[in-house]
Amino acid sequence: MKKIILGITGGIAAYKAAELARLFVRGGSDVHVVMTPAATEFVAPLTFQTLTGHPVYTAMYSEQAGDRIRHIDLLENADVLLVAPATANTIAKMASGIADNLLTTLYLAARCPVVIIPSMNINMYNHRAVQDNINKLALHGCHVMDPEAGELACGVYGKGRMPEPEDIYAYTRAAISPNDFSGLNALVSAGPTREHLDPVRFLSNPSTGLMGYALARALSERGAAVTLISGHTHLNAPPGVKKVVVTSTEEMYNAVFENYKKCRLVIKAAAVSDYRPLKTAEQKVKKSNQVSTIELTRNRDILFELGKEKGNHILVGFAAETEDEIENARDKMLRKNLDMIIVNNLKEPGAGFAVPTNRVTIIDRSGNIEQLPLMDKDQLAHHILDRIAGLL
Ligand code: CTP
Repeated sequence: MKKIILGITGGIAAYKAAELARLFVRGGSDVHVVMTPAATEFVAPLTFQTLTGHPVYTAMYSEQAGDRIRHIDLLENADVLLVAPATANTIAKMASGIADNLLTTLYLAARCPVVIIPSMNINMYNHRAVQDNINKLALHGCHVMDPEAGELACGVYGKGRMPEPEDIYAYTRAAISPNDFSGLNALVSAGPTREHLDPVRFLSNPSTGLMGYALARALSERGAAVTLISGHTHLNAPPGVKKVVVTSTEEMYNAVFENYKKCRLVIKAAAVSDYRPLKTAEQKVKKSNQVSTIELTRNRDILFELGKEKGNHILVGFAAETEDEIENARDKMLRKNLDMIIVNNLKEPGAGFAVPTNRVTIIDRSGNIEQLPLMDKDQLAHHILDRIAGLL
């Protein structure tokens, strides 16, 4: 999602639009803010100008060096027009095709998807006139998000509150994503596994789960029913994703196989421990003067075992390499009976563990090798799904 037109109308929830703008900017979008005259009474345009790095538009025309700039041109290449918060008044104007300010005019001229976030007092929201107008907008093809129930600015408890910016962000991304994974059950594994030596010590790796969670989010946005089997991370499950938390490789193995049958697509982005201590102490091991040795034993290779029962499944693996990455990854793909493998060279800057970006090469069974530039993991997740869509 590159270019967003964020329309803000005159409701108390306008202050939450600042956080929303920040989320989109942080996600790599170019955000252009349009405010109705009433919205500027609630939040100063300068707030949005500072957050987005662009001028904020409040009128149809501006005079610059004697030229009249048509702000309707803002819509060029826009990926979405998002109106948050949308008051009853603006909703009514949009539903009836009234174009009396820049935002309502843009609505009529927009050819991109439109997302509306109604936000108002519960009695207003429930009024037949407002409900009729919301239904009309849905008939126009707009995506209208349900408001939340909770304490409203007027002190009343009920439905009408603007949802949290994170939820609006997720809703908008899902609304404008292609629905090409709809009806598909997918399983994603993510994060590190831990192999305990005793109750307070374990062997692990620096994975934070970012890549796997980005894939789970992207799959869910594109319509898949997603089960995310995750090692311990600080990340929250993306909206709509069923999350199962596991600790060890053995637990991940069991959780993956419990869900394997029903999932056509499996993406194994987890950083799995290949070894575990031969013995795990029941109590904390106390220090002593003797230097001790940890004896290790091999864990089962989950992906290899999945590959043995491949059937109709699409299997996608990751390869973490520090040398000869293409050769090693191709070898892993064939050995584990995968359809595709994504390889990252852990020594490259910006790639691999605990960074928001990655630089990968995608290799598939037909011999295609696609080297991608450094990119944000969310963006990469969609790119990987574009490739997987071709296999389905
Ligand atoms: N994998 C797995 N079970 C394991 C080890 C790895 O399912 N016990 C999966 C990973 O989730 C990843 C792929 O296999 O999708 C490759 O993992 P990687 O660590 O790169 O390779 P290994 O097979 O462990 O080989 P090596 O460590 O020797 O490079």
